[in-house]
Amino acid sequence: MTENSLKAQFRTVFDRAPSWRVNAPSRINLIGEHIDYCGGRVLPMAIQGGTTVVSAENDSDMIRVYTERFSDRVSLKIRPDHSPGFYGDWRDYVAGVVSCLSRSESRVVGHDLYVTQSAGTAGLSTSASFCLALAKSLSPKSSEVELARICQQVEHEFARVQCGIMDQMSIALGGVIYLDCQALRWQVASSDLDDVVVVVMDTGKARTLAGSAYNERVSELHQVAQSFGAEDIDNLVSAPATDFLPPHLAKRFRHVTTEHRRVAQAFEAIQSRDWSTLGQLMTASHESLRDDYEVSCRELDCMVELALKQDGVLGARMTGGGFGGCAIALAERLSVSQWMPVVAAAYQQQTGIFPDLFEAEPAPGLSRQSC
Ligand code: GLA
Repeated sequence: MTENSLKAQFRTVFDRAPSWRVNAPSRINLIGEHIDYCGGRVLPMAIQGGTTVVSAENDSDMIRVYTERFSDRVSLKIRPDHSPGFYGDWRDYVAGVVSCLSRSESRVVGHDLYVTQSAGTAGLSTSASFCLALAKSLSPKSSEVELARICQQVEHEFARVQCGIMDQMSIALGGVIYLDCQALRWQVASSDLDDVVVVVMDTGKARTLAGSAYNERVSELHQVAQSFGAEDIDNLVSAPATDFLPPHLAKRFRHVTTEHRRVAQAFEAIQSRDWSTLGQLMTASHESLRDDYEVSCRELDCMVELALKQDGVLGARMTGGGFGGCAIALAERLSVSQWMPVVAAAYQQQTGIFPDLFEAEPAPGLSRQSC
């Protein structure tokens, strides 16, 4: 949507002019899946198509939000203790951002906000993008890391998902980053993929139950950590190998340690532009998520298998939390127009769902400008 039509929409809803525009991208993860919450390193890439918020202060103690996605609005008092789960829908995230920001150092004042989000590509961190765009609009002076931590807290408390901080950091910082989730240090990885491209393949399978299954994996890793005598999972990626775990926990732990190794190798491959090695590591990551961590599903496996059969595809994997949502393929740039329709048709034939495939380019992180 153009800036002028956004301003016009804001005027229609709030009867005045907006002052600021904030953009938050969405994200995919090249590799490093399900290890951000146990001290791992990850390689996410911010991509186009997230959230845009236009806003203005409203001289009150209320946050008023209108979202185009649901043609719905909410008005909330600025206070630190909204009840998690009170609304049972998108408004809980607004309540979460308002509460968590109010508890932080930030001084939040009343605002009117008009939100647009690009048509939902499930699993590309729509909620993190939404929360960061709101948080940046309400607290523009907070640092990226602070906003990322606050929005992670919102997911923990208000969506009850014990997620890591990868999505929030990726969206806040933009580009491709090699992020150490324990130390919260990062390096910008080369985002110039020259003759290769990342294709996003949305399976169209809703991520139902993804939250509960996600928390179940986190709690399994807590059991692994306990068996090592560790109090927490925040450095599990570096724990030594052991023979003493029951089989299902041994598989979970094997994913964590092998994935952590693959991410370091993938970062080197990107820096040395060794795309075929990067592709192989991505495919190995998918196998590990499917067989050891067990967070894939029939639709994701089908999409990955179909992509891997195509000429020019160097690797493919699920991306994000799993149980539906999106897969990605790394492919030679010139090959994609040939095979994308082939994969889409074959996928539809096998699953009955029409998928959405598109090329993704690295996008800038959170930004705010006057409008
Ligand atoms: C979700 C979470 C992230 C991360 C991924 C899996 O996107 O929000 O913190 O754990 O799943 O890698």
